[in-house]
Amino acid sequence: MKNIIILISGGGSNMKSIVKRAQKAQWLHRFQTQISLVLSNNPLAEGLEWAQEQGLPTAVVDHRQFLQDAHPRRAFEEALIQRIEPHRPELVVLAGFMRILSPYFVSHYANKVMNIHPSLLPAFTGLHTHQRAIEAGVKFSGASVHWVSEELDAGHIIDQALVPLLPDDTQISLASRVLTQEHLLYPRVIENWLKTQTA
Ligand code: GRF
Repeated sequence: MKNIIILISGGGSNMKSIVKRAQKAQWLHRFQTQISLVLSNNPLAEGLEWAQEQGLPTAVVDHRQFLQDAHPRRAFEEALIQRIEPHRPELVVLAGFMRILSPYFVSHYANKVMNIHPSLLPAFTGLHTHQRAIEAGVKFSGASVHWVSEELDAGHIIDQALVPLLPDDTQISLASRVLTQEHLLYPRVIENWLKTQTA
């Protein structure tokens, strides 16, 4: 049995699209792969309740519990690893996970951490990607799924979705169209990756 772990911080719409695809495309039967944990740094993440309703194991490792620690980021990541380790994941999927992971975590799960970023990398790394795309006057934006490396939003790009900007776009309208494409892109990328693991 192969395990996929999904990390979220909020609504978890990408996690939901992945879980639905896993069910619809029968990943368990076809790839002997299950989503064995949905983990959030945010105890109030709506995605947790939805995952529980789907019968998926969930966990919370609240990053705020470690703020008093001498090394808060390291303490948080050690707690994350402690919670993830028993699953021995083939893949750690960041899906709207809003914490930056240090080289410590990334190297522990080297070449196993995937992320989705709401821009056409390498353009617009970091935050507020849609507003920045509009302000820059680009004609296309989109989403990128990439392997997480030690540099933020800079790992090998696996695939991308292209979204044209419209003249009257706001960051809300653009974000909505990009998110729709994310929900198609991420499950497809993971399923294609699963196919390479069993080929
Ligand atoms: C999305 O824009 C995604 O690109 C970014 O986080 C946002 C929310 O994702 N990583 P989700 O709805 O929590 O999956």
